[in-house]
Amino acid sequence: MLNLGILISGRGSNMESILKAIKKNGIPINPAVVISNKADAKGLKIAKKLGVSTEVVESKGFKGSRAEYDEKIISVLRKYKVTPKNGLVCLAGFMRIISPEFTKKYKNKIMNIHPALLPAFPGLNSQKQALEYGAKFSGCSVHFVDAGMDTGSIIIQAVVKVHEKDTEDSLSKKILREEHNIYPEAVRLFAERRIRVYGRKTKII
Ligand code: GRF
Repeated sequence: MLNLGILISGRGSNMESILKAIKKNGIPINPAVVISNKADAKGLKIAKKLGVSTEVVESKGFKGSRAEYDEKIISVLRKYKVTPKNGLVCLAGFMRIISPEFTKKYKNKIMNIHPALLPAFPGLNSQKQALEYGAKFSGCSVHFVDAGMDTGSIIIQAVVKVHEKDTEDSLSKKILREEHNIYPEAVRLFAERRIRVYGRKTKII
């Protein structure tokens, strides 16, 4: 079976939705490890409660390069057998940019969830960006991670309507509900080996 590693920095609600869906819906993937770059990430407690191993690779005060930090993450992933051959890495609110060395090693094996309809509103504060831009619809995207910022091949997207009265908070909540549906679904498709990548396009078979 494939091994799953989830990288978080904080709340961990997407991580929780994936871990719960694996149990509830019998997704054929082993939740091997949750890794946080912050020792106080709330998601670590949730992972432990759900019986999943946790590790911290503290990024604060780390003196080396981005690639050197990622090497530490990769060595933890290896320890739990989350390899490019036999694994999937899910970024779930992991607030760090991944080095090209990491994305190259794990090509099309790292996924991310982004709270906007990519390629619109990449980077930080996407919900605020969508509101300020006056978008009538926004949503979320699960995509493979490449060396760019939120530029990898899109796997699944979900749309939400933006209402005039929406605030950053209300829009974020609406989008988050959809995130919790599509991220576990993307993991399921990957685990069932149903995602094909053609250049920057994906096809679900
Ligand atoms: C989500 O909005 C996700 O789209 C973004 O970071 C947030 C993480 O939330 N990448 P959580 O930690 O999964 O609750």
